[in-house]
Amino acid sequence: MTKTSLHIPVLLEHVLKIFYRNERQIFLDLTFGAGGHTKGLLNQNENCIVYALDRDQNAIELAHNLAKEYPKRLFPFHGQFSQLKTIFKDKENYFDGILLDAGTSSMQLNDPQRGFSFRHDGPLDMRMNLKSKSVTAYDLVNKLDETALSRIIRLYGEDKRHRKIARCIYQWRSTFGPILTTTQLANVIKVGLGGNASDVDKLNRPIHPATKTFQALRIVVNDELNELYNGLEQAYTLLKPGGTLLCISFHSLEDRIIKRHFQGIVLHPDEFSSNLDETSLRNQAEKQIRYNIQTKHIIQADDNELDENPKSRSAKLRYGIKL
Ligand SMILES: C[S@@+](CC[C@H](N)C(=O)[O-])C[C@H]1O[C@@H](n2cnc3c(N)ncnc32)[C@H](O)[C@@H]1O
Repeated sequence: MTKTSLHIPVLLEHVLKIFYRNERQIFLDLTFGAGGHTKGLLNQNENCIVYALDRDQNAIELAHNLAKEYPKRLFPFHGQFSQLKTIFKDKENYFDGILLDAGTSSMQLNDPQRGFSFRHDGPLDMRMNLKSKSVTAYDLVNKLDETALSRIIRLYGEDKRHRKIARCIYQWRSTFGPILTTTQLANVIKVGLGGNASDVDKLNRPIHPATKTFQALRIVVNDELNELYNGLEQAYTLLKPGGTLLCISFHSLEDRIIKRHFQGIVLHPDEFSSNLDETSLRNQAEKQIRYNIQTKHIIQADDNELDENPKSRSAKLRYGIKL
């Protein structure tokens, strides 16, 4: 199996159907990853062109290789959402479709050296862009005080046991020294929560008790929620009126930002994870309608896709047409 075959694009049939027009179209794939969605778009309509972005150099290397198979039809760019307006400064109101498939790719998750997953032992890194000078998960786990750790696990992991988890991490490192690897951190959390602690997902399947802490660390290391919020705002300016913005999210914090972007609700960064008063949000939304929202009900994977690709279980697709 090749490195890229490990990432299966989620909700691909829906994505292709939503974007399909029998005419020349120009797309922007904001999250190239292994290129599954991009390839689908290029194959579906031989007149279409895709500009592809990713903050991970490995992904962009793949994109450059794929570009050789699609001469003058695939243009890769290394960068992140918050740089969109700079990278595409001459492309306002330009794209017919913009796709954002949030989160991490299987290539990132399955590479132990990237430190995203406790399923493989690796250094606590979690940076999507390995050249970035940002903090790593190691820095957060070993340098934040207990209160700050507890706060990020509460806000970005939405784990009710945030205090207990922060305490066990803090006590461990005060006694034994720094926590160095993904599996070490996962075990510290599991033992700290009582050894037998096990959680379940929405379908009642067991998940490791460190899952939400890992999500929180990854979000902070990559500043994911600010990136998403800024990326959507900037993507809006690049999309043509009549063009389609399609977003796929994998957890409620992402979905909340995407949903509110479509509703035209401007959020303050402190509000990404809080429960705002829905009535005042709706009133505000009425003033700033920018999209014709096409997904009154979100689109999710069906049983066939869930069987083939369990990662699709938490995927939520929303899309809208720019007015
Ligand atoms: C779920 S994967 C995309 C998979 C892709 N759609 C496919 O079919 O292979 C998400 C990708 O988005 C990238 N990414 C996440 N946040 C980003 C950001 N703020 N700017 C640019 N790329 C980002 C990640 O590096 C990762 O490669």
